Amino acid sequence: MNKLYGDVVLIAGASSGMGKAIAEALSQEGYKVYGTSRKVKTESNDEVAVCTDTGGFIKMIQLDVCSDESAKAAVDFLKEKEGRIDILVNCAGFALAGAVEDTTHEEAFREFNTNFFGAHRMCRYTAPIMRENGKGLIINISSTAGLISVPFQSFYSASKYALEAMTEGLRMELKPYGIKVSMIEPGDTKTGFTNSRVCAEASRDSVYKATFDKSIARMVKDEQSGPPPVGIVQAVKRIINSSNPPVRQVVGPVNKVLAFLKWILPDRLVEYIVSKLYA
Ligand SMILES: NC(=O)c1ccc[n+]([C@@H]2O[C@H](COP(=O)([O-])OP(=O)(O)OC[C@H]3O[C@@H](n4cnc5c(N)ncnc54)[C@H](OP(=O)(O)O)[C@@H]3O)[C@@H](O)[C@H]2O)c1
Repeated sequence: MNKLYGDVVLIAGASSGMGKAIAEALSQEGYKVYGTSRKVKTESNDEVAVCTDTGGFIKMIQLDVCSDESAKAAVDFLKEKEGRIDILVNCAGFALAGAVEDTTHEEAFREFNTNFFGAHRMCRYTAPIMRENGKGLIINISSTAGLISVPFQSFYSASKYALEAMTEGLRMELKPYGIKVSMIEPGDTKTGFTNSRVCAEASRDSVYKATFDKSIARMVKDEQSGPPPVGIVQAVKRIINSSNPPVRQVVGPVNKVLAFLKWILPDRLVEYIVSKLYA
């Protein structure tokens, strides 16, 4: 099958969940997929990208998106190996839970450093390579939480709102160079996301503890009873086969309704619905 943007794919955060499912699906369609994980072993220096072969055509590169050096090393490594990067999918992320009052600046920064600055680093280092090639595609994995803020996960939402804003701007900046940018907004999906959730230290002994625990229990239940990332894989396939990909694709019927309500309902009504669910 003709590959609109080319066949060299870099997926940041492909050791688990959505990134892993996307990597497997694209590899089966004949793409040369390079996935990443922080856990790929390096011999001496953590910032030096190395590659392990997992069979098929998925090769794993060492990457911590929180490090400039690591992000640059991973992108340089792929440029050296393949001469180009045709498609970048930014999946690396985790959820920070905690009331705003209970969250320290350091905890909030860690969230932003992965979910927002991590994607920024990857876009920043990859864009010149795509520009040189005259084409390319960047897909950022955002969240419904990037459209509607959730109590006790405000900093997760904030990092995704920020990602949404950056992606919208980047899309217009890169368009003249033939590079397309799009994002996907998943809802609750059964992945490693639930287990990797980090709670703000002060949540353990907080004035909000009862509501916080109830709210997080609801999120955990919804994620764990959510679908596997099949819909996300389909959304990625739709985007990579489109010469004019949408700004955003909301995945899942419930999330499509939520996103629609967000645009048409007054803010107070949206707040009432979200409060009923999570506060
Ligand atoms: N699951 C959901 O319900 C849901 C809903 C909406 C949006 N999302 C978003 O979907 C994306 C994928 O999450 P998922 O659900 O597939 O979760 P997951 O199974 O936990 O996968 C997260 C991936 O991110 C990577 N990662 C985390 N921190 C990293 C760092 N500092 N540097 C490099 N890689 C890092 C992990 O790799 P290593 O740990 O191996 O490095 C892993 O491959 C995230 O951006 C998440 O916010 C998830």
